Amino acid sequence: MTNQTITSVSRESRLFKPSAEFKAQANLGSEAAYKKLYAESVNSPERFWERQAKQFLTWRKPFTQVLQWKPPHAKWFGGGTLNVAENCLDRHLGTARENKAAIIFEGEPGDIRTLTYKQLHREVCKCANALELLGLRKGDRAAIYMPMVPEAAVAMLACARLGVVHTVIFGGFSSEAIKDRINDCGARVVITADGGWRRGKIVELKDSVDRALGATPSVEHVVVLKRTGNAVTMKEGRDLWWDDLMAAAPAVHKARAHASEQPLFILYTSGSTGKPKGVLHTSAGYLLGAAMTTHYVFDIKETDIYWCTADIGWITGHSYVVYGPLSVGATVLMYEGAPNQPEPDRFWEIIDRHGVTVFYTAPTAIRAFMRWGDEFVTRHSLASLRLLGSVGEPINPEAWMWYHKMIGKKRCPIVDTWWQTETGAIMVTPLPGITPTKPGSCTRPFFGVVPKILDENGKPVSRGSGGKLFLTQPWPSMLRTLWGDDARFKEQYWSEVPGLYFAGDGARFDEDGYLWVVGRIDDVLNVSGHRIGTAEVESALVSHPSVAEAAAVGRPDELKGQALVCFVTLKGDQRASDELKEALRAHVAREIGAIARPDSLRFAAALPKTRSGKIMRRILKEIAAGGDVKGDITTLEDFNVVASLQAEE
Ligand code: WT7
Repeated sequence: MTNQTITSVSRESRLFKPSAEFKAQANLGSEAAYKKLYAESVNSPERFWERQAKQFLTWRKPFTQVLQWKPPHAKWFGGGTLNVAENCLDRHLGTARENKAAIIFEGEPGDIRTLTYKQLHREVCKCANALELLGLRKGDRAAIYMPMVPEAAVAMLACARLGVVHTVIFGGFSSEAIKDRINDCGARVVITADGGWRRGKIVELKDSVDRALGATPSVEHVVVLKRTGNAVTMKEGRDLWWDDLMAAAPAVHKARAHASEQPLFILYTSGSTGKPKGVLHTSAGYLLGAAMTTHYVFDIKETDIYWCTADIGWITGHSYVVYGPLSVGATVLMYEGAPNQPEPDRFWEIIDRHGVTVFYTAPTAIRAFMRWGDEFVTRHSLASLRLLGSVGEPINPEAWMWYHKMIGKKRCPIVDTWWQTETGAIMVTPLPGITPTKPGSCTRPFFGVVPKILDENGKPVSRGSGGKLFLTQPWPSMLRTLWGDDARFKEQYWSEVPGLYFAGDGARFDEDGYLWVVGRIDDVLNVSGHRIGTAEVESALVSHPSVAEAAAVGRPDELKGQALVCFVTLKGDQRASDELKEALRAHVAREIGAIARPDSLRFAAALPKTRSGKIMRRILKEIAAGGDVKGDITTLEDFNVVASLQAEE
């Protein structure tokens, strides 16, 4: 395989410069321009952001104050009003974009649909009217639990238009996860579908919603889109068909202006405790971050067909499938299903079929393609591609090189973009016409971003040494708080070093000032590019009647980045068995969703603990990785526990 020779080369020695052709056409193509803008963005941030906000957004009423910063609370573009949906749709009408494709959709079964900006606008207006008729008002919450179909974007934009705060729940989450999220934000309406297609099968979304709704007093209505046509139960008075509502709704909707800080959406993400965090994003600042990065990082042109493979259930789907690309008037490709349906070359087939020019995916997907084999790629031309992106976890240099050669044909710059649900938009990234790239490094900060790496005591580390990653300046698309839990917001992000935003990642700068993010340092795993809180998995496990205690840790995994390994002790009367093991894995999948299903589950007589009773995860991590237990174990209460855990392997 080609990538074998690559691993032996020192990664820092490889530098890939953008081609002269790319540079010449780039939205930002000179190092001097980047330096100048970056310097302004950190030295005179208010002047910088004022100009960007005027350039990228259409305002109903101009803002009067760029930033009000009372750490850790920021208010951006105070006094201003706008409508996010209007910025994504209405402002393109009456221009050359009006009849341009906004969304090209391909369903897993092969159905293809195109919605122009004008058509998408019409759908969003109808949906906004329909939601209004259901009684939804500005500030109310609505949950969206849908497959990757255009109607998901329609629902999001309709909420945005009304000032209704949406929370999109990833279609792979279980009914337990739906229930928790609905209850946490008090959603009045759930928008879902009869199902969605995934790997040739129907994911029964409505069914999961039904199971969640027994214990969600806030929900008044469920709107159900017909996607797969399978039978679902409709509860009289509560459940309504999307098609019926849309057919009855007027196609004209006058958008109201909302304040810059109007909450736009809540997106739940895993943290280091059992309860997911409701990350709150607001309107103007978030949209500015999404729009600006789409323009500069993805170098969007009128002629691009842009494809971000993320599901709308994740922040990447919010910022780079819906809000960012539509606000800059791009054509977005949306694909419903799995990358290996019917064959492992579906993505490459789609790229050729639709002429995709900009492609943004995750390292875990890239590693899967590598494993499936080059022959699935070389069947297709991929000649339309001009720019590639990566997000979700550190991309290993082997995967980077494969992406570069096999997909990019050594012609396309790769933007390895570091950011988080909380940051709303890309924070550290190459600029494709400017930044020479190194495989595995997300390179340099985007405008307005000032990363710092500090040690355990909050002191700067020397260049080349690793430490904790902080951001030192507020930025427009930053999270504003955690929904209903401002204390946790302060504690989680702003207490490690007071006044600085703590990202929860470990990182280092190299000799060229390039940033290398190595991964999470809190008790959060990155499995296939998605954050899973170990505490969340543990609390799911102990909710099972057989389990006494549980500890979840990560083990390095070639494909998933990290695999989830659980250690479980059983209640006195319970016996370990393969059946119970499977039942517990299924239980976690049911409680949280299939993405959290433990890769391996081990029964133990006891877990290694300190004398004060804290589980020593470091030891479990080492055992899970199959290595020796190294380092200090003097605080371990009972050494025999470790010996027996190793023996049980
Ligand atoms: C965590 C955020 C942001 C969209 C997808 C994930 C890891 C993300 C990179 C990258 C190294 C990365 C970090 C981060 N991460 N992108 N390019 N290089 N690590 O969003 O679920 O909020 O996870 O993903 O650990 O903290 P998220």
